[in-house]
Amino acid sequence: MKKINIGLLGLGNIGTGVYEIIQTNGPKINLSAEKELHIKKILVNNLNKERKVSVSPEVLTTSIDELLKDQEIDIIVELLGGIHPAYEYMKEALISKKHVVTANKAVIATHGRELMKIAIDNNVALRYEASVGGGIPIINTLSKPLSINQFEELMGIVNGTTNYILTQMTDFGLEYDEVLKTAQEKGFAEADPSSDVEGEDAAYKLSILISTAFGLEVSPDNIPREGITKITKDDIEYASQFGYKIKLLATAKKTGNHLEFHVHPTLIPDSHPLASVSNEFNALFLKGNAVDDLMLYGKGAGPLPTGSAVIGDIVEISKIIGTNFDPTISFPENIDQLQLSGEGTSKYYIHFRVEDKPGALGFISTAFGNNGISIETVMQRSRGEKYVPVIYILHNCKREQLNKTFEEITKDETVKEIRSILRVEEF
Ligand SMILES: NC(=O)c1ccc[n+]([C@@H]2O[C@H](COP(=O)([O-])OP(=O)(O)OC[C@H]3O[C@@H](n4cnc5c(N)ncnc54)[C@H](OP(=O)(O)O)[C@@H]3O)[C@@H](O)[C@H]2O)c1
Repeated sequence: MKKINIGLLGLGNIGTGVYEIIQTNGPKINLSAEKELHIKKILVNNLNKERKVSVSPEVLTTSIDELLKDQEIDIIVELLGGIHPAYEYMKEALISKKHVVTANKAVIATHGRELMKIAIDNNVALRYEASVGGGIPIINTLSKPLSINQFEELMGIVNGTTNYILTQMTDFGLEYDEVLKTAQEKGFAEADPSSDVEGEDAAYKLSILISTAFGLEVSPDNIPREGITKITKDDIEYASQFGYKIKLLATAKKTGNHLEFHVHPTLIPDSHPLASVSNEFNALFLKGNAVDDLMLYGKGAGPLPTGSAVIGDIVEISKIIGTNFDPTISFPENIDQLQLSGEGTSKYYIHFRVEDKPGALGFISTAFGNNGISIETVMQRSRGEKYVPVIYILHNCKREQLNKTFEEITKDETVKEIRSILRVEEF
């Protein structure tokens, strides 16, 4: 059996997972790959660090050249994280005609197209299954069996940390700060959770999904996004009284020949399949014009699930090595000539703190009407206090219409505070 030599960049969480799976499932992996996989060298920062797996010291190195200049290494597996130097190392590997597998959403979202072109020019593969949804086979499913579809919409819970926090707030009636602290203690949130809780991580993943499903290039910086830090247990409770759960959704939706896209905490009906995706689990719900509704669900992070996706890519490449099959893949063409259109329209949930006096609801409702917004439901929670929560669910409107309404409303002192503005998805 032909030997495939692998150069691993990184032996942290995911690198260790990959190493462990190759050790335990070696014969099965080799059978699938139709080759014998061998990790020849591993790049790390610190040679003296204690490792969770037993690796011969001569396999570890701190010199990238030992991997990139080694003619015997066929595949570079990048598991360093961050953009630099991961991007430069991947680029150099592709130019050196080495296949590259990565789990790095930040690099793929920001430099994926450039790296893909270099891979094609050098007749090698660049694969990135683990960059979105950890162990869930999303990228390959979109690019292979589902690629014959024209996608209408994608909605993903693609960040496990925020989904864990929102689930715990929902199930135990807790505030955001309390749950974040426990999530950090349990390892579900990082010490600096900002990329997760501010929606940046989800925006990276949405950018990759849009490229993979629609063939459109959207910089993560141009994806309208909002995180979950302002969500309160009250909003979760009121949403639940209307029959909704609050989830951080990464959404791309086709309207005519426009594609709207954004990352927002969103109310979704309890009956929607995404509403039951709890804790650290991830899911992608999509609609294709042939396949119709479909949901992919599983563990979106963790050494073994993510390692499984990484090894899946390694196996696909290994099968092709030494054959006449073209190893390259590319992002699809934007054959529908879709235009990017940002946020689009949405139903909205609005939570006001309003003075409890006659005519207050009429005043707000008139302002909505003045700006062409129609109201689906309104609920007032009277607590015998001067200011009370008033919740509106609004029919589809644009964010600019809402802003104009808020300008009008806040000229008067009836509304003390616009506490929450959240999107609402229907099923
Ligand atoms: N964690 C997850 O659940 C998950 C899920 C999906 C995708 N991913 C992606 O997988 C990638 C790896 O994540 P991770 O959680 O495994 O990261 P990690 O635990 O921080 O591990 C990073 C590894 O890379 C090494 N490293 C970092 N920078 C280096 C440099 N400049 N030179 C040499 N070695 C360097 C570190 O060496 P030392 O060990 O010597 O410090 C460490 O072994 C990231 O792109 C991440 O986004 C992670």
